[in-house]
This record gives sequence, C-alpha cells and structure tokens, in this order.
Amino acid sequence: MSALSQKKIVLGICGSIAAYKSLLILRQLVKSGAEVEVIMTEAAADFVGPLSYSTLSGKPVLTHIHSESDWNNHVHLGLWADLLIVAPATAQTIAKFANGMVDNLLTAVFLSARCPVMIAPAMDVDMWYHAATQRNIKFLESIGVRIIPVEEGLLASGLSGAGRLAEPENILNLVHSFFQVQQSMNGRKVLITAGPTQEPIDPVRFISNYSSGKMGVRIAEICLERGAEVHLILGPSNENIPVHKHLNLMRVKTAEEMFDAVKSMYMDMTDFILAAAVADYRPLDSSAQKIKKTDELLQLTLTKTPDIAMFVGAHKSPNQKLVGFALETNDFLANARAKLHKKNMDMIVLNSTGEQGVGFGYDTNRIEILDQKGGHVIFDKKSKKEVAADIVNALLLL
Ligand code: C5P
Repeated sequence: MSALSQKKIVLGICGSIAAYKSLLILRQLVKSGAEVEVIMTEAAADFVGPLSYSTLSGKPVLTHIHSESDWNNHVHLGLWADLLIVAPATAQTIAKFANGMVDNLLTAVFLSARCPVMIAPAMDVDMWYHAATQRNIKFLESIGVRIIPVEEGLLASGLSGAGRLAEPENILNLVHSFFQVQQSMNGRKVLITAGPTQEPIDPVRFISNYSSGKMGVRIAEICLERGAEVHLILGPSNENIPVHKHLNLMRVKTAEEMFDAVKSMYMDMTDFILAAAVADYRPLDSSAQKIKKTDELLQLTLTKTPDIAMFVGAHKSPNQKLVGFALETNDFLANARAKLHKKNMDMIVLNSTGEQGVGFGYDTNRIEILDQKGGHVIFDKKSKKEVAADIVNALLLL
C-alpha cells in the first residue's frame, strides 16, 4: 500500500508561471491514494484555471475565505489535513507566512494548520537571493516548516540561476518519504523516562541534579512524529510538552514514583528509552518538619534508590528494546560499555560532559552510541531534536 493512501493533503497554489507543474503533483498525489483539497490564491487562477485542478482532485477548488453562500472553514481545513504543501510558493506568500499575515484562504489555513507544512518556493533568482526572502525562509525553517530546495536553471524571466520550482518528481519523492518516516514507528509503544528526580530531605528541600528533561522530551516528540504511542514519565522539568493524542504524560517527582510508574506498564511496551537522570541516592528519612539550623554539622544518611534501567533490563522480553544513557566524567567508553552489559541494555547513549553547549540544560548535545553487537558510532554536536532523531534511527536498526 502506498504511504500516501488515505492521507489528507491540502495543496496550496500561488500565482507563478510554475503553477502548471502543480497539476502533475496533484495528479500523482491523487493516484497514490491521497485525498487532496486544492486552495488557489487569486493570482494563481491567472496562470492555470481552477477547472483543471477540480477535475483532477474531484473536489471544488477553494479560493476565498467565503463565497456568496459558503464560508470555507480554514480552521477545519487546518485540522483536517495530514500535510499542507504549497507548490509553487511565491515570494509574496512566503513573506505573508513568515509574518503571520492573513488576506486569503491559503494564508488563513497556514496559520491554523496543526499539521506539518512543506513549501516549494518558485521565483526569479534575484528575488530568491534577496535578503528579505532569505530571512523569511530561515524564519519559516526555524519554526519547523520544511522548505523544498529550489532548483537551478533557466527562469521564466530569461535569467538563469536558482529559484526554479523543484521538479514534481522530486517534490513527490519528498512527500512519499515524509509519510513513510511518519509511519516508521506505527504500532510501537515507547516508554520514555526524562528529567531529573527530586528526593526530599524535608518538606522544603530536596536532592536533585541539573537535568532539564530536554533530551527525553525531544525523543518523545520524534517518536510521536513517527507514529508511535508514547508514555512519557517525566520528573520535574520546565519543558513544554506537546499535546498529542498518542501521548500519555505522567508527572513524577522521586525515583520511587518513577519506578512505580515504569513497573505498572513495562510489560505492555515495545521499547524503553530511559533518558532520566534518576538520583542514585535519597535521604533515608525525609523529615516531616523543616530541619532547623542548630548544629554546626548536619549529617544526612542516604540510601540507594531503585535502579529502573536494571529492573527493565532484567525483566524485559527479547522483543522489547532497552536504550539507556550514560553521563560519564572519566573512562567514558569503558564505563558506558560496562553499564550497557550490566543493565542488559540493547544500546547506550553516551553523553559528553565539560564541553560548552553540550549536555545538561543546553539545546545542543554531542553523543556516541554503543550497542550490544559491538557497534560504536560517534556523532557531531547537533540540536537535541536532531540528536533525538539519531537515537531513534539507531533504535529502529536494532
Ligand atoms: O548508572 P547510571 O545512573 O549512570 O545509569 C544511567 C542509565 O540508567 C540511564 O539510562 C538512567 O536513566 C538509568 N537509571 C535508572 N534508574 C536509576 C539510575 C539510572 O533507570 N536509579
């Protein structure tokens, strides 16, 4: 079955001489089983008539937020779509998208869309390289819009250079691989632990660590984007958590609470990604009252917390995959490898320490991955979202 089968796609078309290529794109999307709603800007209709699109899509073409008798619900379209793709996207529409401007149905749908967005720019070479266009493109990229690279060659103006709409075949390949990746974790149930734990000393104090939860939350986002069901057990963290119908978020404070949550559901999972920085020790007795400042010295007795990774490693079935993390300050590789075997992990992610922009609290990370089969891959410093994708890709290869 095609990855596009029954996918709901909104295809936006702007006023460009390249608009004729969008007929081929529409034809192939429909042939691959997608349901497509076409939105044209007013200028687009000057290049190719709506009748060609409505014949191919089997639906009326949408052009205005309202006609004499109907109101085209842009919020509904934005929620309905699995993908919004704008091809060709003109400099004008790109500028409106980047600035949140709404003056037609397409810009309104862009602002209300909760689905991923792809845009395939098409314009003259000078417009493409203009600082304003490049700024708009960079901004859109930074908010997650996928930009389909322009191609180089002869342009309608007679000039030659970058700015041509990508060939329909290349656009369609990107759409196919987008949906393939999106389905690559269908049917998997992933348990993720993330963030620090807080171990109470008394009602107002605790022992904890610098973990922010960023890495684990980024991994949860990647798994959700790929169609997995995610159970995120999160210690105290200020990260924004995505709202997603396949996300089950459980908030915990202590290692013991995290352990209880894991035990209650581990049998039902296909994968474990244990990214939490679980406190290894907790105060043996947490005082019911605030401890007073009396003596010169105060002694705390600490006791070990349950090792969640060890438990999962000991109880998991051969089909369940366990990914653990290691943060080492010395003998990095030897310690990580020892942990991989001791806790019966299938793969361990080694975090670097002591380098600017890497590890706890930062948005970037540098990792190495070791697996049970002796594999060892060293990655460059990247954003935690990209690192999360590397980790999930490695898990899928286990
Ligand atoms: O032994 P260490 O704490 O360095 O092991 C790190 C790995 O074990 C991480 O994947 C961490 O989430 C997990 N771990 C755990 N429970 C603990 C301690 C660590 O799940 N109590």
